[in-house]
Amino acid sequence: MIPYKTIITLDRKSCTPVYIQLCNQVIQLIKCGILPPSTKLPGSRWMADTLQVHRKTVVAAYDELMAQDWIEVRPAKGTFVNSSLPIVEQQPIPGTEAAEKAKMRKQSPGFAFIRREHLNARDTEFPKEGILGLDDGVPDTRIAPIEEIARVYRNIVKKSYNRKHLSYGSIYGNMELREALADYLNDTRGLSTEPENILITRGSQMGIYLSARLLLEQGENIVVGETNYRSANKAFTEAGGTLNRVRVDANGIRTDDVETLCRKRKIRAVYVTSHHHHPTTVTLSAHRRMHLLELSQKYGFAIIEDDYDYDFHYCNAPILPLASSDSGGNVIYIGALCKIVAPGIRVGYLVAPKAFTDEAALMRRVIDRQGDQLLELTLARMIREGEIQRHSKKALKIYHARRDLFCSLLKERLGEYFEFRKPEGGMAVWVKLREGYDWDEVKAEARKNKLKLGGYCGDEDDTIDNPYPGLRMGFASLTLDEIKEAMDRLETTMTSLEQKVKSYA
Ligand SMILES: Cc1ncc(COP(=O)(O)O)c(C=O)c1O
Repeated sequence: MIPYKTIITLDRKSCTPVYIQLCNQVIQLIKCGILPPSTKLPGSRWMADTLQVHRKTVVAAYDELMAQDWIEVRPAKGTFVNSSLPIVEQQPIPGTEAAEKAKMRKQSPGFAFIRREHLNARDTEFPKEGILGLDDGVPDTRIAPIEEIARVYRNIVKKSYNRKHLSYGSIYGNMELREALADYLNDTRGLSTEPENILITRGSQMGIYLSARLLLEQGENIVVGETNYRSANKAFTEAGGTLNRVRVDANGIRTDDVETLCRKRKIRAVYVTSHHHHPTTVTLSAHRRMHLLELSQKYGFAIIEDDYDYDFHYCNAPILPLASSDSGGNVIYIGALCKIVAPGIRVGYLVAPKAFTDEAALMRRVIDRQGDQLLELTLARMIREGEIQRHSKKALKIYHARRDLFCSLLKERLGEYFEFRKPEGGMAVWVKLREGYDWDEVKAEARKNKLKLGGYCGDEDDTIDNPYPGLRMGFASLTLDEIKEAMDRLETTMTSLEQKVKSYA
């Protein structure tokens, strides 16, 4: 006899009704083979007495089990586990130690698969409650125009003819969005593109990945800055490419280094974050932009221009992207609405010569048939209504004030520990540590003060200034008060570290 009294536990305070709890637990017992097909279940009166519940509760649970076909009633014989269910090997009773062990065993795969060590991320943990995080430079989701998105989305789904967007659509993405984006990018970034050149992606990262897969075969060369956006490096090495690192200075990546490399070997692509180099935030100078475009035509390589934060420039008008001066069809321009709207709104774009866009669409199809068409349509309408542009202006103003406060406090209160240049745009400051300190120690001490320094701090394979050349400190996602609080915690951190350093001396 199954010890129902001990293996079924009912929580009367739970918001799940008791009869549903009973029903779910009987299902569990059936699924794990403790109640095999054709097992007779106890009568409702006996079960009610055993579990100390009202008989109606048991009857309701049995009715539910019957409705779901887990059990069957045989006239004049009683209630049985459905005889047509498959027979499963008996497993330990849920909640027991044996069940826990079995669960752990299931976590180690019973098959071989490829582990890609180079994809390992250093730190993917998000700050917990009460911990302030200085991130890599991400938008503040609290100001995201979610009400507007909801309003436009609702208006779209209310119209029955929009139901067609719930089905399979174009692998290039929603046409209205491609049209709206073509106009938007032409107006704001000086591009002269057409909807047919645009592939809608789930964000910039997908555009980088698709480009990597289409440009690089095993061992082929791509040029990146040293240091560089780590997730892009990973996409390139994942595609089989070999990273060729060039120096980065106050004017962006050194294009003379790119030229030297081109003379030595076949370069398939150069990756740039031209507007604000990731991680250092420097802008690629006009002269180097022209030089890079010239080189791309001379040596026939692609420029992957990742313009992830074009909309956030605080000093003067942003410099137009390389793509706006590309006369030879060498630039693959990548961007997203993820930074303007919110990272969780996964809509981005890849703009390239048509033949490349077509191939990228086919490649995208094998990993993700299409994006979220209704969301894409919503964003298209919001661009047409000027809603995205209004939000972008509002966010720019807010982040501008945050950048100014962040940088002035960092300079006034922590200037003796850190070196940095106030960034002209973007959402983070690239901070270098003065001699005598170590980022790992700073991070560990900061944690004790409930501050998480979670920004990018160099690539493990970088050869310069090891261990880390600097650390990105994001300011955009914190309010002015939170910035002040973060600076207090950082000051406490550095003061106690300074005392430790002095005590060693
Ligand atoms: C330089 C750079 N490129 C691309 C991305 C990816 O952005 P998305 O969220 O649009 O995929 C990021 C994200 O932070 C980034 O910093």
